[in-house]
Amino acid sequence: MTSNRQPSDVVTVSMTVNGRSTEGQAKARETLADYLRDELGLTGTKLGCEHGVCGACTILVDDKPARACLMLAGQGDGREVRTVEGLAVGTRLNELQQSFRKHHGLQCGFCTAGFLMSATALLAANPNPSEHEVVDALSGNICRCTGYQTIVQAVLEVAGNTPKEES
Ligand code: FES
Ligand code: FES
Repeated sequence: MTSNRQPSDVVTVSMTVNGRSTEGQAKARETLADYLRDELGLTGTKLGCEHGVCGACTILVDDKPARACLMLAGQGDGREVRTVEGLAVGTRLNELQQSFRKHHGLQCGFCTAGFLMSATALLAANPNPSEHEVVDALSGNICRCTGYQTIVQAVLEVAGNTPKEES
């Protein structure tokens, strides 16, 4: 006997985004990145490679960095999501964002949201990282403009560190 049931091509997604409860409908095969950008209007999350390589789409899901291009919107259901739009305090850039600006940690800015989110996760888990630990935490993010050193310096300054020697 065959079933008449068809897999639903729409899913309901309820999640907390930057501290606010959201609920919406997503296509079953829609990525979380597209859902955030197109349905919720959060275009700060960028899409580069769209297959998990460049890190431009990095967001935090339950406080852990995640590639929004590799997740389906439906996988965000019930989760807590943080995007780059959630970093600023009102209209004021947060300390990490200000440090990126101070150290010229961005040029075209396409990669910046992803770097900021990866660095945010690092500093939450390890508030006093060494230079090596910063480089390691950001190794999944690609930047074609800056040469990386200014980004690393920006993160180290927020950590209260000048680059320290590895023991
Ligand atoms: S767009 Fe997701 S990793 Fe490149
Ligand atoms: S600032 Fe242009 S890719 Fe990083």
